[in-house]
Amino acid sequence: MFEQATFVISNTDIAKCPKPDRPEIAFIGRSNVGKSSLINMLASKKGLAKTSGRPGKTQLINHFSIDEQWYLVDLPGYGYAKVSKKSRAEWEQMISDYILLRENLRVVCVLIDSRLDPQKIDLEFINWLGENEIPLALVFTKADKQSINKGQQHIAKFKKAMRATWDAFPPIMLSSAESGYGKEEITAFIQEVIEN
Ligand code: GTP
Ligand code: MG
Repeated sequence: MFEQATFVISNTDIAKCPKPDRPEIAFIGRSNVGKSSLINMLASKKGLAKTSGRPGKTQLINHFSIDEQWYLVDLPGYGYAKVSKKSRAEWEQMISDYILLRENLRVVCVLIDSRLDPQKIDLEFINWLGENEIPLALVFTKADKQSINKGQQHIAKFKKAMRATWDAFPPIMLSSAESGYGKEEITAFIQEVIEN
């Protein structure tokens, strides 16, 4: 698992993504939440996915091949305020095409900042996934920035907010790209997804 991770291709067009001949898992979430960093942590490869302190770093659909057995996909984030209406509409089109049409996509991991109270934009996005019957998991990020207990409290609040629209919860994990917290749990989850 994650023995060998290599970059394959970046693009804005789902027609140009690699042939859908193996399972695929995508990471999405607000800009700056830590999607690219988490990919690097899981792959134990620092510069694999490009990260940045400034939001909006990842702009394309990025495919990484893991052990030549499955694809891990880094997607551009949502909710970055300094984005034009046109760019936002383009993002929505690209992401909805990718998520709704990518036939080998097994699960969408939605990353959420573990330091924050439930955010409307995250809830709206996961509700949209639910309405479209897309399998998802929630990965709370940046656990190292506070106590684990505090992170768990924010997860509990998020679950409470989800109860308005969800009667069962997706898999939920807590992680830190900085400390490696959650690596085993996330790896085991992904392994189960791609093997079934
Ligand atoms: P976009 O591509 O812009 O959507 O952002 P992203 O979600 O890919 O975030 P990225 O991985 O680039 O990380 C954003 C910032 O958060 C960087 O400065 C990272 O170093 C920092 N960061 C990411 N994950 C963690 C974490 O687990 N702990 C800490 N302390 N910082 C983190
Ligand atoms: Mg990124």
